[in-house]
Amino acid sequence: MVEEALRVTSPTPVMLRSAARAGRIGGVRVEAGERVVIATLLCTGAYGPFAPDRDPAETAGLRRLWFGAGPHFCLGPLAMAEIRAVVGALRGFPGLVISGRRPARGVLIPAYARLPVRASRRAGRGRTS
Ligand code: HEM
Repeated sequence: MVEEALRVTSPTPVMLRSAARAGRIGGVRVEAGERVVIATLLCTGAYGPFAPDRDPAETAGLRRLWFGAGPHFCLGPLAMAEIRAVVGALRGFPGLVISGRRPARGVLIPAYARLPVRASRRAGRGRTS
């Protein structure tokens, strides 16, 4: 589900590259040095709407494009470890409810300025940490 959420939100919606040499990208002719804007969001969105039950093999061709591609590929495993740590911590609160959300404006990477969550009374029962 985390993979699917990253695909749909594509936290890095656009990436910039420059053409190392003249050639074609798809049907488009590019000259050496020309700037190429990759609309990551459109590439990842082409696989359809959010489907948390989707077989990850269906989108394997994207090779986690939201983390970039090539020699500057993100430290994705570290980002995934952070996401898993947060999701793991929230697992102790099965009745968790998002009680409001406000997107951050004017930021480079999409984020929430505010995302309050409320635990039900039984939340976290029996847990000590
Ligand atoms: C969901 C979270 C994240 C997303 C979507 C993301 C996405 C990206 C993208 C798209 C790039 C550019 C790759 C390219 O140009 O091909 C990048 C580069 C990079 N990211 Fe992330 N990133 C995330 C979290 C992190 C975290 C947590 C760290 C480290 C603590 C990190 C460290 C880096 C570094 C060091 C680079 C530059 C690599 C280079 O230029 O060689 N990223 N990231």
